[in-house]
Amino acid sequence: MTEVVNIHNSAYDVLIARPSKWGNPFQIGRDGNRERVIQLYEVHIRRRPDPAKFFERYLALTDRHRTAFPGQSDDAIRATLRGMSAAQLAGVLTAAEREALQFGYRERVTDMHLPHIRELPAVLPGLFAAAARRAHAAGFDGVELHYAHAYTMASFLSRTNTRTDGYGGARENRVRLPLEVFHATRANVPADFAVGCRYLAEECIAGGSDVEDAVYFGAQFAQAGMDFISTSRGGKFDDAKQPGIGAAAYPYTGPSGYECMPQYISDARGPFGRNVAATAAVRAAIRGAGYETPIVCSGGVHNFDMAEKLLQDGVCDIVGAARQSLADPDWFLKMRLGRGAEIRTCEYTNYCEGLDQKHKPVTCQLWDKNDLDRPGVARTADGKRRLTPPEWPMPTG
Ligand SMILES: Cc1cc2nc3c(=O)[nH]c(=O)nc-3n(C[C@H](O)[C@H](O)[C@H](O)COP(=O)(O)O)c2cc1C
Ligand code: SF4
Repeated sequence: MTEVVNIHNSAYDVLIARPSKWGNPFQIGRDGNRERVIQLYEVHIRRRPDPAKFFERYLALTDRHRTAFPGQSDDAIRATLRGMSAAQLAGVLTAAEREALQFGYRERVTDMHLPHIRELPAVLPGLFAAAARRAHAAGFDGVELHYAHAYTMASFLSRTNTRTDGYGGARENRVRLPLEVFHATRANVPADFAVGCRYLAEECIAGGSDVEDAVYFGAQFAQAGMDFISTSRGGKFDDAKQPGIGAAAYPYTGPSGYECMPQYISDARGPFGRNVAATAAVRAAIRGAGYETPIVCSGGVHNFDMAEKLLQDGVCDIVGAARQSLADPDWFLKMRLGRGAEIRTCEYTNYCEGLDQKHKPVTCQLWDKNDLDRPGVARTADGKRRLTPPEWPMPTG
């Protein structure tokens, strides 16, 4: 099954390979023999440049620079800028230019001077809907629309979104595109195909959305008819650490990144349950508005007592666990079978997250060196890590 997707006048052939045909649950590619993932970055981020190259090539000289250095040729202005200190540059470069120099060029949904940013509200509902259709065609039971962290839709929801085209500013404007994306998606898949979203209960950045925004958005999503609502927190570019030259900023490296994936080196609050209070507020508001939409809460959940308490306290209806499930994918089963002592408990080291950050295959340090030489064990390209955890010999009887 092939369909053509048109994005900014470029046509992409997307081939949907069904599991029965290709033996792989989900492949998208231009031909059926090789798996290809097509990832489209609508909002660009670039690597932090070498300062010399930045001034030589990347910085677009404007009248502002020419006025600052009257009578100088463009080449001379570039050479002058290159020799200036950070303090001196602050008087000449705009904030966006300084950011491009120090962190790498990054577009925002508020960059209305860029045509592809301006037209996001016209383009994104169709793209999300097409992706959901492909997921359905490939055999999935539902999709989670990603409205969290540093993703584009989260930027629309953010209090930092000051667009003036009706999609920014007041809460009701910021939620408009996420709702349009949902409605377009819902209309393009069967009624029994689940469509929900993940969004931020708190952005955890200065000037960002807080729990009051999340309460409003949650009620809007529930009213729109989402099948589930999942909360996360933080994970923003806004407070990411400065990357090294040649590397790109990563949204999980700053304080908001810590809120998303807290680790064992922590502040006094510790890494567990940081999203509980905000999620409870979201769920209470949704119930108060008369909707029974299931709510998912995650963050540091690693044992039965914690998970059960979240459910008993009415914080959520479904408990999500990312790292504990990577540490031990059988932990649910072990709990259910009363074999809790056999669970590999996550140590919240964020070794896995470090791999993700470097775009390496994500594994867990609790098992990725175990039985490496056993026949049939799939390993990373360098052969140093196994890709899947050792199988748990499920007890019989
Ligand atoms: C290696 C790794 C990759 C992750 N990738 C995503 C992702 O693609 N999308 C997402 O919403 N959250 C992602 N997360 C965040 C988790 O979904 C989750 O919110 C966070 O880890 C806190 O939950 P936990 O304590 O159960 O791990 C990732 C987490 C880890 C550790
Ligand atoms: S590497 Fe394993 S133990 Fe460490 S945080 Fe990730 S899942 Fe937990």
